Amino acid sequence: SFEIELARSAMTLQVPAGKTILEVMREAGVTVLSSCEQGACGTCMTTVIEGEVDHQDVYLNESEKRANKAIMTCVSRAKSARLVLDI
Ligand code: FES
Repeated sequence: SFEIELARSAMTLQVPAGKTILEVMREAGVTVLSSCEQGACGTCMTTVIEGEVDHQDVYLNESEKRANKAIMTCVSRAKSARLVLDI
């Protein structure tokens, strides 16, 4: 598991192994847009403020993935213990 801090929502949440970031945010009452929920469309894209993303999507290209500035919250996870997201 890893932790997500939602900077604008002023919340810190735990993401367990069996759940996506998107699911955890929704369960906490945060409104997040999504469509494909398979990492392909970019609808759930969220800006990363801090932490290292474990990209699992097919929407961002390799250089965008290396830039570590955005995450598809429906499929991607964290390599670091904590991610800070601009939401
Ligand atoms: Fe389509 Fe996440 S909802 S990439």
